[in-house]
Amino acid sequence: MNKDKPIIEVNDLKKVFKIHISGDGFAGKVKSLFQRKYKLITAVNAINFSVRRGEFVGYVGENGAGKSTTIKMLTGILVPTSGTAKINGMIPYENRKKNAEKIGVVFGQRTQLWWDLPVRESFDLLRIIFRVSRPLYDRQMEKLEKALDLKPLLDIPVRKLSLGQRMRCDITASLIHNPPVLFLDEPTIGLDVLAKESIRNFLAEMNREEGTTIILTTHDMNDIEHLCKRLIILDEGRIIFDDETAVLKKNFIHEKQIEVEFYEDDTVITEVPGITVIREEGCKKWLKHDNNISGIGDVISVLATRFKIKDISVKEPSVESIIRNIYDNRIALPPVTYQNSLSA
Ligand SMILES: Nc1ncnc2c1ncn2[C@@H]1O[C@H](COP(=O)(O)OP(=O)(O)OP(=O)(O)O)[C@@H](O)[C@H]1O
Ligand SMILES: [Mg+2]
Repeated sequence: MNKDKPIIEVNDLKKVFKIHISGDGFAGKVKSLFQRKYKLITAVNAINFSVRRGEFVGYVGENGAGKSTTIKMLTGILVPTSGTAKINGMIPYENRKKNAEKIGVVFGQRTQLWWDLPVRESFDLLRIIFRVSRPLYDRQMEKLEKALDLKPLLDIPVRKLSLGQRMRCDITASLIHNPPVLFLDEPTIGLDVLAKESIRNFLAEMNREEGTTIILTTHDMNDIEHLCKRLIILDEGRIIFDDETAVLKKNFIHEKQIEVEFYEDDTVITEVPGITVIREEGCKKWLKHDNNISGIGDVISVLATRFKIKDISVKEPSVESIIRNIYDNRIALPPVTYQNSLSA
Protein backbone atom coordinates (compact mmCIF):
# COMPACT_ATOMS: atom_id res chain seq x y z
CA MET A 1 0.00 0.00 0.00
CA ASN A 2 1.37 3.42 -0.94
CA LYS A 3 1.44 5.49 2.25
CA ASP A 4 1.70 8.76 0.36
CA LYS A 5 -1.31 8.19 -1.86
CA PRO A 6 -4.30 10.17 -0.57
CA ILE A 7 -6.89 8.05 1.17
CA ILE A 8 -9.42 10.89 0.93
CA GLU A 9 -9.69 13.01 -2.21
CA VAL A 10 -12.12 15.91 -2.48
CA ASN A 11 -12.48 17.83 -5.74
CA ASP A 12 -14.67 20.92 -6.20
CA LEU A 13 -17.14 19.38 -3.80
CA LYS A 14 -20.33 21.39 -3.51
CA LYS A 15 -23.64 21.00 -1.74
CA VAL A 16 -26.56 23.34 -2.31
CA PHE A 17 -29.73 22.82 -0.27
CA LYS A 18 -33.07 24.00 -1.65
CA ILE A 19 -35.35 25.13 1.13
CA HIS A 20 -39.01 25.86 0.76
CA ILE A 21 -39.99 29.26 2.19
CA SER A 22 -43.49 29.41 3.56
CA GLY A 23 -45.38 32.74 3.63
CA ASP A 24 -46.26 34.76 6.72
CA GLY A 25 -49.59 34.24 8.48
CA PHE A 26 -52.35 31.82 7.57
CA ALA A 27 -53.08 33.39 4.15
CA GLY A 28 -49.39 33.42 3.31
CA LYS A 29 -49.03 29.76 4.28
CA VAL A 30 -52.02 28.75 2.14
CA LYS A 31 -50.68 30.80 -0.77
CA SER A 32 -47.28 29.19 -0.49
CA LEU A 33 -48.92 25.78 -0.90
CA PHE A 34 -49.80 26.77 -4.46
CA GLN A 35 -46.92 29.08 -5.26
CA ARG A 36 -43.84 27.31 -3.93
CA LYS A 37 -40.96 29.67 -3.21
CA TYR A 38 -37.48 28.37 -2.62
CA LYS A 39 -34.24 29.61 -1.21
CA LEU A 40 -30.87 28.09 -2.08
CA ILE A 41 -28.25 27.55 0.61
CA THR A 42 -24.72 26.75 -0.47
CA ALA A 43 -23.53 24.73 2.53
CA VAL A 44 -20.28 23.54 0.93
CA ASN A 45 -18.87 25.68 -1.85
CA ALA A 46 -16.52 23.86 -4.25
CA ILE A 47 -13.88 22.71 -1.78
CA ASN A 48 -10.68 20.83 -2.55
CA PHE A 49 -8.44 18.87 -0.22
CA SER A 50 -6.81 15.50 0.14
CA VAL A 51 -5.77 13.50 3.18
CA ARG A 52 -2.96 10.98 3.36
CA ARG A 53 -3.12 7.69 5.23
CA GLY A 54 -2.48 8.13 8.94
CA GLU A 55 -3.14 11.88 9.08
CA PHE A 56 -5.12 13.37 11.97
CA VAL A 57 -6.96 16.36 10.55
CA GLY A 58 -9.05 18.91 12.42
CA TYR A 59 -12.02 20.12 10.39
CA VAL A 60 -13.30 23.26 12.03
CA GLY A 61 -15.46 26.30 11.46
CA GLU A 62 -18.28 28.29 13.00
CA ASN A 63 -21.82 26.96 13.34
CA GLY A 64 -23.30 26.44 9.89
CA ALA A 65 -19.90 26.56 8.12
CA GLY A 66 -20.60 23.28 6.33
CA LYS A 67 -18.57 20.78 8.38
CA SER A 68 -21.28 18.19 8.99
CA THR A 69 -22.48 18.52 5.41
CA THR A 70 -18.97 17.67 4.19
CA ILE A 71 -18.74 14.69 6.57
CA LYS A 72 -22.14 13.48 5.36
CA MET A 73 -20.96 13.57 1.73
CA LEU A 74 -17.73 11.77 2.63
CA THR A 75 -19.64 9.07 4.46
CA GLY A 76 -22.22 8.61 1.70
CA ILE A 77 -25.22 10.00 3.62
CA LEU A 78 -25.60 12.98 1.26
CA VAL A 79 -25.08 13.22 -2.49
CA PRO A 80 -23.10 16.31 -3.59
CA THR A 81 -24.67 18.88 -5.93
CA SER A 82 -21.43 18.82 -7.95
CA GLY A 83 -17.79 17.81 -7.63
CA THR A 84 -16.48 14.53 -6.29
CA ALA A 85 -15.31 12.85 -3.12
CA LYS A 86 -13.37 9.61 -2.98
CA ILE A 87 -12.43 7.46 -0.03
CA ASN A 88 -9.90 4.79 -0.84
CA GLY A 89 -10.64 5.40 -4.53
CA MET A 90 -14.35 4.74 -3.96
CA ILE A 91 -17.19 7.25 -4.34
CA PRO A 92 -19.01 7.03 -0.99
CA TYR A 93 -22.49 8.13 -2.07
CA GLU A 94 -22.43 5.67 -5.00
CA ASN A 95 -21.11 2.73 -2.98
CA ARG A 96 -22.66 3.46 0.37
CA LYS A 97 -22.58 -0.08 1.72
CA LYS A 98 -19.06 -0.86 0.55
CA ASN A 99 -17.81 2.48 1.81
CA ALA A 100 -19.43 1.88 5.21
CA GLU A 101 -17.27 -1.22 5.60
CA LYS A 102 -14.14 0.91 5.21
CA ILE A 103 -15.00 3.84 7.44
CA GLY A 104 -16.13 4.57 10.98
CA VAL A 105 -18.43 7.50 11.78
CA VAL A 106 -19.45 9.16 15.01
CA PHE A 107 -21.93 12.01 15.13
CA GLY A 108 -21.61 13.42 18.64
CA GLN A 109 -25.15 14.78 18.55
CA ARG A 110 -26.74 11.44 17.66
CA THR A 111 -26.13 7.87 18.78
CA GLN A 112 -25.90 4.93 16.41
CA LEU A 113 -26.70 2.51 19.24
CA TRP A 114 -30.10 1.03 20.04
CA TRP A 115 -31.60 3.11 22.82
CA ASP A 116 -33.26 0.31 24.79
CA LEU A 117 -30.69 -2.44 24.28
CA PRO A 118 -27.79 -3.12 26.61
CA VAL A 119 -24.57 -1.83 25.08
CA ARG A 120 -23.25 -5.37 24.52
CA GLU A 121 -26.24 -6.29 22.35
CA SER A 122 -25.90 -3.14 20.25
CA PHE A 123 -22.27 -4.06 19.59
CA ASP A 124 -23.26 -7.59 18.67
CA LEU A 125 -25.86 -6.33 16.19
CA LEU A 126 -23.25 -4.09 14.59
CA ARG A 127 -20.89 -7.08 14.37
CA ILE A 128 -23.55 -8.91 12.35
CA ILE A 129 -24.35 -5.86 10.19
CA PHE A 130 -20.67 -5.34 9.38
CA ARG A 131 -20.15 -9.11 8.94
CA VAL A 132 -17.19 -9.18 11.30
CA SER A 133 -16.11 -12.72 12.18
CA ARG A 134 -16.38 -13.71 15.85
CA PRO A 135 -12.61 -14.08 16.43
CA LEU A 136 -11.85 -10.70 14.84
CA TYR A 137 -14.67 -9.10 16.83
CA ASP A 138 -13.45 -10.62 20.09
CA ARG A 139 -9.93 -9.39 19.46
CA GLN A 140 -11.08 -5.88 18.57
CA MET A 141 -13.47 -5.71 21.54
CA GLU A 142 -10.81 -6.85 23.96
CA LYS A 143 -8.63 -3.98 22.82
CA LEU A 144 -11.43 -1.39 22.93
CA GLU A 145 -12.78 -2.61 26.26
CA LYS A 146 -9.43 -2.00 27.85
CA ALA A 147 -8.69 1.31 26.13
CA LEU A 148 -12.08 2.87 26.75
CA ASP A 149 -12.87 1.18 30.07
CA LEU A 150 -16.09 -0.36 28.76
CA LYS A 151 -16.50 -3.33 31.10
CA PRO A 152 -18.77 -1.57 33.62
CA LEU A 153 -21.00 -0.29 30.79
CA LEU A 154 -21.67 -3.39 28.72
CA ASP A 155 -24.86 -4.53 30.46
CA ILE A 156 -26.45 -1.10 30.80
CA PRO A 157 -29.16 0.00 28.35
CA VAL A 158 -27.88 2.84 26.16
CA ARG A 159 -30.56 5.24 27.40
CA LYS A 160 -29.16 5.00 30.94
CA LEU A 161 -25.60 5.97 30.02
CA SER A 162 -24.15 9.38 30.83
CA LEU A 163 -23.07 11.48 27.85
CA GLY A 164 -19.38 10.60 28.34
CA GLN A 165 -20.13 6.89 28.73
CA ARG A 166 -22.37 6.96 25.66
CA MET A 167 -19.66 8.64 23.63
CA ARG A 168 -17.14 5.94 24.59
CA CYS A 169 -19.65 3.34 23.41
CA ASP A 170 -20.40 5.22 20.20
CA ILE A 171 -16.70 5.44 19.39
CA THR A 172 -16.40 1.70 20.05
CA ALA A 173 -19.38 1.06 17.76
CA SER A 174 -17.67 2.96 14.95
CA LEU A 175 -14.54 0.83 15.33
CA ILE A 176 -16.00 -2.68 15.59
CA HIS A 177 -15.05 -3.42 11.96
CA ASN A 178 -11.60 -1.88 12.45
CA PRO A 179 -11.91 0.76 9.69
CA PRO A 180 -8.81 2.52 8.35
CA VAL A 181 -10.64 5.89 8.27
CA LEU A 182 -12.60 7.46 11.10
CA PHE A 183 -14.89 10.51 10.88
CA LEU A 184 -15.72 12.15 14.18
CA ASP A 185 -18.27 14.96 14.13
CA GLU A 186 -18.03 16.69 17.54
CA PRO A 187 -17.26 13.62 19.67
CA THR A 188 -16.35 15.75 22.70
CA ILE A 189 -19.42 18.00 22.68
CA GLY A 190 -20.89 18.51 26.15
CA LEU A 191 -18.31 16.30 27.90
CA ASP A 192 -16.53 17.24 31.11
CA VAL A 193 -12.76 17.72 31.27
CA LEU A 194 -11.96 14.15 32.33
CA ALA A 195 -14.21 12.51 29.76
CA LYS A 196 -12.70 14.72 27.05
CA GLU A 197 -9.23 13.80 28.14
CA SER A 198 -9.86 10.05 28.11
CA ILE A 199 -11.34 10.23 24.61
CA ARG A 200 -8.48 12.42 23.41
CA ASN A 201 -5.88 10.00 24.77
CA PHE A 202 -7.60 7.09 23.11
CA LEU A 203 -7.82 8.82 19.72
CA ALA A 204 -4.20 9.94 19.84
CA GLU A 205 -3.07 6.40 20.62
CA MET A 206 -5.21 4.87 17.89
CA ASN A 207 -3.85 7.27 15.31
CA ARG A 208 -0.29 6.62 16.47
CA GLU A 209 -0.42 2.85 16.99
CA GLU A 210 -2.87 1.72 14.31
CA GLY A 211 -2.23 4.50 11.79
CA THR A 212 -5.97 5.20 11.57
CA THR A 213 -6.72 8.25 9.43
CA ILE A 214 -8.92 10.59 11.48
CA ILE A 215 -11.01 13.60 10.49
CA LEU A 216 -12.23 15.41 13.57
CA THR A 217 -14.82 18.15 13.74
CA THR A 218 -14.75 20.14 16.96
CA HIS A 219 -15.31 23.57 18.47
CA ASP A 220 -12.75 22.84 21.18
CA MET A 221 -9.35 24.46 20.69
CA ASN A 222 -7.81 21.96 23.13
CA ASP A 223 -8.91 19.03 20.97
CA ILE A 224 -7.18 20.65 18.04
CA GLU A 225 -3.98 21.54 19.88
CA HIS A 226 -3.65 18.09 21.41
CA LEU A 227 -4.66 15.95 18.47
CA CYS A 228 -4.61 17.56 15.06
CA LYS A 229 -1.32 18.06 13.32
CA ARG A 230 -3.18 19.53 10.39
CA LEU A 231 -6.12 21.86 10.34
CA ILE A 232 -8.70 22.67 7.69
CA ILE A 233 -10.81 25.71 8.50
CA LEU A 234 -14.09 26.23 6.77
CA ASP A 235 -15.96 29.51 6.56
CA GLU A 236 -19.34 29.78 4.88
CA GLY A 237 -18.66 26.64 2.88
CA ARG A 238 -15.18 27.61 1.72
CA ILE A 239 -11.77 26.53 2.97
CA ILE A 240 -9.91 29.53 4.38
CA PHE A 241 -7.00 27.66 5.95
CA ASP A 242 -5.40 24.28 5.25
CA ASP A 243 -2.02 23.81 6.85
CA GLU A 244 -0.19 22.48 9.88
CA THR A 245 -1.73 23.52 13.20
CA ALA A 246 1.71 24.81 14.17
CA VAL A 247 1.49 27.38 11.35
CA LEU A 248 -1.85 28.58 12.68
CA LYS A 249 -0.50 28.73 16.21
CA LYS A 250 2.53 30.72 15.15
CA ASN A 251 0.61 33.24 13.09
CA PHE A 252 -2.81 33.45 14.67
CA ILE A 253 -2.81 32.02 18.18
CA HIS A 254 -0.01 33.96 19.75
CA GLU A 255 -2.18 35.42 22.47
CA LYS A 256 -3.58 33.72 25.54
CA GLN A 257 -5.33 35.15 28.53
CA ILE A 258 -4.08 34.53 32.07
CA GLU A 259 -6.41 35.01 34.99
CA VAL A 260 -4.54 35.40 38.30
CA GLU A 261 -5.76 35.83 41.83
CA PHE A 262 -3.14 37.23 44.20
CA TYR A 263 -3.19 37.19 47.99
CA GLU A 264 -2.66 40.97 48.08
CA ASP A 265 -4.79 43.41 46.13
CA ASP A 266 -2.01 45.99 45.69
CA THR A 267 0.17 43.67 43.61
CA VAL A 268 1.79 45.64 40.78
CA ILE A 269 2.97 43.69 37.77
CA THR A 270 5.76 45.34 35.84
CA GLU A 271 8.34 44.16 33.37
CA VAL A 272 7.21 40.61 32.79
CA PRO A 273 8.11 40.05 29.12
CA GLY A 274 5.07 39.34 26.93
CA ILE A 275 2.54 40.35 29.58
CA THR A 276 0.05 43.23 29.49
CA VAL A 277 -2.50 43.83 32.23
CA ILE A 278 -5.93 44.21 30.66
CA ARG A 279 -8.21 44.35 33.71
CA GLU A 280 -7.96 44.43 37.51
CA GLU A 281 -10.59 43.82 40.15
CA GLY A 282 -9.48 43.57 43.78
CA CYS A 283 -6.95 40.74 44.04
CA LYS A 284 -7.80 39.48 40.55
CA LYS A 285 -6.03 40.47 37.37
CA TRP A 286 -6.59 39.55 33.75
CA LEU A 287 -3.38 39.46 31.74
CA LYS A 288 -2.75 39.16 28.02
CA HIS A 289 0.18 36.98 27.09
CA ASP A 290 2.00 37.16 23.75
CA ASN A 291 3.64 33.85 22.90
CA ASN A 292 5.84 35.51 20.28
CA ILE A 293 7.64 37.38 23.08
CA SER A 294 7.91 34.76 25.84
CA GLY A 295 6.86 31.20 26.67
CA ILE A 296 3.79 30.79 28.86
CA GLY A 297 5.66 28.45 31.21
CA ASP A 298 8.40 31.07 31.76
CA VAL A 299 5.81 33.74 32.47
CA ILE A 300 4.00 31.59 35.03
CA SER A 301 7.23 30.73 36.81
CA VAL A 302 8.28 34.44 36.89
CA LEU A 303 4.88 35.37 38.36
CA ALA A 304 5.05 32.55 40.90
CA THR A 305 8.51 33.55 42.12
CA ARG A 306 7.78 37.28 42.34
CA PHE A 307 4.28 37.25 43.79
CA LYS A 308 2.09 35.29 46.18
CA ILE A 309 -0.47 33.62 43.91
CA LYS A 310 -3.72 32.11 45.18
CA ASP A 311 -5.10 30.88 41.84
CA ILE A 312 -4.09 30.98 38.19
CA SER A 313 -5.64 29.78 34.93
CA VAL A 314 -4.76 30.10 31.27
CA LYS A 315 -7.43 30.51 28.62
CA GLU A 316 -7.06 29.78 24.93
CA PRO A 317 -8.66 31.94 22.27
CA SER A 318 -11.79 30.23 20.93
CA VAL A 319 -11.85 28.63 17.49
CA GLU A 320 -14.46 31.18 16.45
CA SER A 321 -12.29 34.17 17.34
CA ILE A 322 -9.33 32.65 15.48
CA ILE A 323 -11.45 32.16 12.39
CA ARG A 324 -12.72 35.73 12.58
CA ASN A 325 -9.12 36.81 12.88
CA ILE A 326 -7.92 34.86 9.83
CA TYR A 327 -10.84 36.11 7.83
CA ASP A 328 -10.65 39.73 8.88
CA ASN A 329 -7.01 40.65 8.67
CA ARG A 330 -4.79 37.59 8.71
CA ILE A 331 -2.39 39.09 11.25
CA ALA A 332 -3.37 40.82 14.48
CA LEU A 333 -5.78 39.21 16.89
CA PRO A 334 -9.01 41.12 17.41
CA PRO A 335 -10.47 41.42 20.91
CA VAL A 336 -10.93 37.71 21.43
CA THR A 337 -13.46 35.71 23.37
CA TYR A 338 -11.83 33.02 25.46
CA GLN A 339 -12.75 29.46 26.23
CA ASN A 340 -11.46 27.55 29.22
CA SER A 341 -8.68 26.44 30.03
CA LEU A 342 -5.37 24.93 31.01
CA SER A 343 -6.29 21.32 30.92
CA ALA A 344 -9.80 20.99 29.43
N1 LIG B 1 -30.72 18.96 5.29
C1 LIG B 1 -30.55 20.28 5.19
N2 LIG B 1 -31.48 21.03 4.53
C2 LIG B 1 -31.30 22.36 4.39
N3 LIG B 1 -30.24 23.05 4.86
C3 LIG B 1 -29.30 22.36 5.51
C4 LIG B 1 -29.41 20.94 5.71
N4 LIG B 1 -28.30 20.52 6.39
C5 LIG B 1 -27.57 21.62 6.61
N5 LIG B 1 -28.14 22.73 6.09
C6 LIG B 1 -27.61 24.08 6.10
O1 LIG B 1 -26.32 24.05 5.57
C7 LIG B 1 -25.43 24.92 6.28
C8 LIG B 1 -24.26 24.10 6.82
O2 LIG B 1 -24.73 23.22 7.83
P1 LIG B 1 -23.79 22.16 8.58
O3 LIG B 1 -24.65 21.33 9.43
O4 LIG B 1 -22.93 21.49 7.56
O5 LIG B 1 -22.88 23.14 9.46
P2 LIG B 1 -21.77 22.78 10.55
O6 LIG B 1 -20.51 23.43 10.10
O7 LIG B 1 -21.74 21.33 10.80
O8 LIG B 1 -22.32 23.58 11.83
P3 LIG B 1 -22.32 23.20 13.40
O9 LIG B 1 -21.01 23.66 13.95
O10 LIG B 1 -23.46 24.01 13.93
O11 LIG B 1 -22.54 21.73 13.54
C9 LIG B 1 -26.28 25.58 7.34
O12 LIG B 1 -26.70 26.82 6.85
C10 LIG B 1 -27.45 24.63 7.52
O13 LIG B 1 -28.61 25.32 7.92
MG1 LIG C 1 -22.19 20.13 12.47
